[in-house]
Amino acid sequence: MTLSTARGAALERILPLLDPPPASTGRSPGYLDLLAPEDAPVPSPAQRVMEWTLLPRIYERIWRPVGFNLAKGWPIGPDTAAEHALARDWLGLGGPGAAGLPAATVLDVACGPGNVTRSLAAGVAEEGLVVGLDLAAGMLARAAEDTTAPHVGYVRGNAVDLPFRDGSFDAACCFGALYLIDDPWGALDAMVRVLKPGGRLVVLTSRRPPLPVSGRAAGALAGRAGLRLFGDREVTGFLEGRGLTEVRRRLYPGLQFVGARKPVPAARP
Ligand SMILES: C[S@@+](CC[C@H](N)C(=O)[O-])C[C@H]1O[C@@H](n2cnc3c(N)ncnc32)[C@H](O)[C@@H]1O
Repeated sequence: MTLSTARGAALERILPLLDPPPASTGRSPGYLDLLAPEDAPVPSPAQRVMEWTLLPRIYERIWRPVGFNLAKGWPIGPDTAAEHALARDWLGLGGPGAAGLPAATVLDVACGPGNVTRSLAAGVAEEGLVVGLDLAAGMLARAAEDTTAPHVGYVRGNAVDLPFRDGSFDAACCFGALYLIDDPWGALDAMVRVLKPGGRLVVLTSRRPPLPVSGRAAGALAGRAGLRLFGDREVTGFLEGRGLTEVRRRLYPGLQFVGARKPVPAARP
């Protein structure tokens, strides 16, 4: 199968990771479209906003820094660059421009316009591969347009039903999206499934205000928009329950950063 797009070489490298192998890769510009119309989840009001035509154009420069930095407690909390550096660190990737970057395979779930994907790719050698996956066609078109790194490719698919073989990735990231996904636990399970043993996972997601009354009120309000607010121990508790190790978190006023590692099965004596 030949893909004659600007990002064709990276997309060709994604094909062996796919399960099942696609009968056709769709004809969308710059990314593999693996989402059959009947498999697309019904969009919540919040997801409909993500699919606005205009949003990919203002997302990285305006929407993302304003919304997320406030939720991280700007100016005390980490800015976007510090947040991405933390992601690369917790995923075991290198720093941009550093010598000896790992040739890792990395999955960025719900990549939007590729802002975090590109930042992760800066910590991966070009022999590695970074794959961004999202539901929204407009976001992916923008991601492909804005990406020049040769080892980055994009896929349209559902986070809850990741179209990859078990154990394909060294690292998986899901920033700013778990609270939008109708089955967040299914999405986390899917991320763990596609990680290699010893692979690392990071998530940046919502945090429910810890006070009982305001927490309940905020949760109810967010729920009406199709957003979920996670308790301080909800995501870490889920990952521990699934047997992940090195589970850790950082809490910010409206967001939480969670990391974990897939265990390596003990060698048989
Ligand atoms: C706020 S953007 C996050 C983009 C980027 N990861 C970041 O941290 O800035 C959320 C993205 O999640 C995507 N999304 C929501 N539900 C999804 C699902 N079930 N599968 C894949 N992507 C999903 C939306 O289309 C949107 O592009």
